[in-house]
Amino acid sequence: MQDDLNTRFEAACAVAREAGALARRRFLERPRSQRADMKGPQDFLTATDSEVEELIRSRLLALFPQDSFFGEEGGGSFERDVWVVDPIDGTANFARGIPHFAVSIAFLRDERVEIGIVLDVMHDELYTARRGGGAALNSKPIHVSGLADLRQATVEAGWSARMPSEPYLAMVERLKQAGANVRRGGSGTLGIVYVADGRIDAYCELHINAWDVLAGLLIVEEAGGVTNDFLAGDGLRTGNPVLACTPELAGPVTAATGIRIGKAAA
Ligand code: IPD
Ligand code: CA
Repeated sequence: MQDDLNTRFEAACAVAREAGALARRRFLERPRSQRADMKGPQDFLTATDSEVEELIRSRLLALFPQDSFFGEEGGGSFERDVWVVDPIDGTANFARGIPHFAVSIAFLRDERVEIGIVLDVMHDELYTARRGGGAALNSKPIHVSGLADLRQATVEAGWSARMPSEPYLAMVERLKQAGANVRRGGSGTLGIVYVADGRIDAYCELHINAWDVLAGLLIVEEAGGVTNDFLAGDGLRTGNPVLACTPELAGPVTAATGIRIGKAAA
């Protein structure tokens, strides 16, 4: 059983790197005058998302034909063994020429994330985790910040057009009142792995989809951080709120965001 997870882990790292090389090439050759297409208000569409997803899908399913696959762009199905993929998280950044976007690949068995791989494409930073095996950045172990004082902390608060602005603004206001520096970088995936290596102390968002967060949440947990029960209810298919942070800040960040850490009591 562990052997097949090792094989999948190595394969996913290689596929993320190949996908990253394609995304990087497309980013650099994009004409600077080109207007991005839109899926909806503030929801960007680039041909590269689909192209990169197709590469990841074809490589993984050629290696593991018995697995199922779900991607942000093309959808798919969720069987016992499933890859959940965001080919480019931070699409708005990609489309506007901002080099802050990532490839995210998670592998789940029986609805439990076993492997998380995130590649920050333009900085060549590969974040990896195997359940029970720790987290690494370019093969070196990483750890959450351990910061205990929200007045010294940086928290990323994600937002999308799926949510009205009032609850987001109220959450940001509570975080600021509690003393946090609040930022938004435009890639939920990268915000979450930044928690894992202590660049920031917490990431929160009132609704986000599974493909944006599953790989990163395992990386945070394996880096010693804590997370909410993202897969509660139908989180895999319809998304949920998300919170990932250094354990010392779980109380104050939960108080400010209303998102609880860990599984709810049965
Ligand atoms: C979005 C980004 C954004 C987050 C949104 C996501 P996309 O994904 O991760 O930071 O706040 O919830 O939908 O559109 O860049 O793939
Ligand atoms: Ca995304």
